[in-house]
Amino acid sequence: MAQPMVKTDGREVAKWCLVAASVWMAVTMTIGFIASLQMIFPGLSDIPWLSFTRLRIIHVNGVLFAFLTMAYLGAIYYLVPKLTGGELPEGVARASFWLLNGIVVLAVLSFLAGRTEGREYAELPRPLDLLVVVFWVMMTYAAFKPALTGTEKRWYVTLWFFFQSIIWLGFCYLIGMVPLGGIADSVALWAYGHGVLNGWFQTMALGINYWVIPITTGRPIFSHVLSLIHFWALVVLMFPGSNHHLIQAPIPEWLKFVTIAFSVGMLLPASVFFTNMFQSLKGNWHQLRRFDTDGLALKFAVAGVIFYLLNCIFAAIQSIRPVNAFIHATQWVVGHAHMAVIGVSALPTIALIYAAMRRLTGNEVPNLRLGNWHLWLTIVGYIGVFATLKIAGIVQGIHRAASIPFEQTMDTMRLFYIARSFFGLLLVIGAWICAYLVVKWLVTKPAPERVAEFEKVERQVIALH
Ligand code: HEM
Ligand code: HEM
Repeated sequence: MAQPMVKTDGREVAKWCLVAASVWMAVTMTIGFIASLQMIFPGLSDIPWLSFTRLRIIHVNGVLFAFLTMAYLGAIYYLVPKLTGGELPEGVARASFWLLNGIVVLAVLSFLAGRTEGREYAELPRPLDLLVVVFWVMMTYAAFKPALTGTEKRWYVTLWFFFQSIIWLGFCYLIGMVPLGGIADSVALWAYGHGVLNGWFQTMALGINYWVIPITTGRPIFSHVLSLIHFWALVVLMFPGSNHHLIQAPIPEWLKFVTIAFSVGMLLPASVFFTNMFQSLKGNWHQLRRFDTDGLALKFAVAGVIFYLLNCIFAAIQSIRPVNAFIHATQWVVGHAHMAVIGVSALPTIALIYAAMRRLTGNEVPNLRLGNWHLWLTIVGYIGVFATLKIAGIVQGIHRAASIPFEQTMDTMRLFYIARSFFGLLLVIGAWICAYLVVKWLVTKPAPERVAEFEKVERQVIALH
C-alpha cells in the first residue's frame, strides 16, 4: 500500500537541534548552579578558570545561545517549511547547526581561559563574533528560501514572529559588536542587549507558543487578528524601551522619559496575547488534566502564557523611576532576569521540545511519569528562584536606603543565596530528566505512519486560523 506523503524537509536537522538544545540546557543550568554555590562558599572560586566571573558568563551565554538559540534553530527548520510549503536548503541548515555548536564550544573554552570582551551579553571575542555573523547569514538564507518559494500565500502568525526575530537578531548583533566609548556605548550596548532579549529570545518563544497551543489542544487560536495586533504592538514598542537598563545612568532626561513610557506600554501586547490565548483555551481547560505527551507540552506552554503576563506587570512597575532607583543593582534584577528568560522563553521552548519530538518521531515521550517530574520540578524551582531573588532585592534596597554596611547586607543575603541554590537544583534535576528523555526518544525506533497521521491533523488545525 502506498504511504501517505509526508514533507520530510528539515525534520532530521530539527531533531538534532532539539536534542542538542536539551543537553545544552542541562549542562548550562548546572554551570549556573555551580556559580550559585560560589556565592555561598566563596572559597570555591579560588581556581582562576573556575572563578565566579568566568562561570557566570558561560552560564548566561550558554542558556541564551546554546540552549534557547539551538532550540529556536530547530523550531525554524521544522516549522518554516511546514507552514510555508517551501523547500529547506538542508545542506546549509545542517552546516549552520554544526557551526552554532562549534561557536558554543569555542566560546566556553575562551571564557574558561578568561578571554572576553567584558561587555554584558556581548562577551564573545571578536573572531567568534564574526563566526556568529556567518551563522546568522546561513540561518537567514535557510529560513527565507522556503518562505519566498513556498506555496502558502497566507502566513500563519508563527512565521511573522520568526522572521521578525531573525531580522532583529542580525540588526541588534551588529549594533552590539561595535564599541563606541563613553555613554553612547552604554546606550548602544543596551539597544543590543535589550533588543536581543526582547526581539529574539522573547519573540521566538511567542511564535512557538502560537504553534504549540493550537496543535496540542487540536483547536485553532481564537483570533488571527488579535495575534497580528500583538505582533505589531510589540514591534512598535520594543525598541524605544531598550534604555530602561540605564534609568540610573547619566543619559538624557528625554531618553529616560521615552524608555519608561514605552516600557509601561509593553503591558498592551502582553494583555492582547493573554486574552487571545485565554479565549483559545476557553471550554478547553480540561485538556490541562490530560496525562499524555501533548498534555505535558500544553502545561509548559500555558505556564509560559501566564508568566509572560506576570513578568510584564512586574517589569512595567520596576521601570518606573522611584521603583527602579530602589531595585537597581540589587538581586531583584537577577530575579527579573530569571523570571523573564525562563518564564517567557524557556517554558514555551520546553513545550516545543516535547510537542515537536512527538511529531518528529511518531512516538510518545519515553516515560511520561518522568516527564511530569520535569514539569513540576521546573515550575516549583522556577517560582522559588525568582521569588527568592526578588525578595532578596527588596531587602538589599531597604538596607541601602538605611545605609546599613555592605558586609552586614552580605551576611543577610547568605540565606537567600542558599534558597536560590536549593530551588535552582530542582531546575537542574528537571533539565537532566528532560535531556535523558529526549536522547532516549532519539534512539527509539521511529513510527513514520503516525508521523503522517499527526501531520494531517496539524494541517487541519492550522488551516482553520
Ligand atoms: C533556563 C534556565 C536559566 C536561564 C535562562 C538563566 C538565565 C540567566 C541570566 C539571563 C542571567 C544574567 C542575570 C543578570 O545579569 O541580571 C543569569 C545569571 C545567573 N544565573 Fe541563571 N538562568 C537559568 C537557570 C539558572 C539556574 C538553575 C541557576 C542555579 C541556581 C542559575 C544561577 C545563576 C547565577 C548564580 C547567576 C549570576 C547572578 C549574579 O550575577 O548575581 N541560573 N541566569
Ligand atoms: C514588559 C517588558 C519588560 C520590561 C518593561 C522590562 C524592564 C526591565 C528593566 C527596567 C530592567 C533593568 C533593571 C535595572 O537594572 O534597573 C530589565 C532587566 C532585564 N530584563 Fe527586562 N523587561 C521586560 C521584559 C523582559 C524580557 C521579555 C526579557 C527576556 C526574555 C527580559 C530580560 C531582562 C534581563 C536578562 C535583564 C537583566 C539585564 C542585566 O543583566 O542587567 N526582560 N528589564
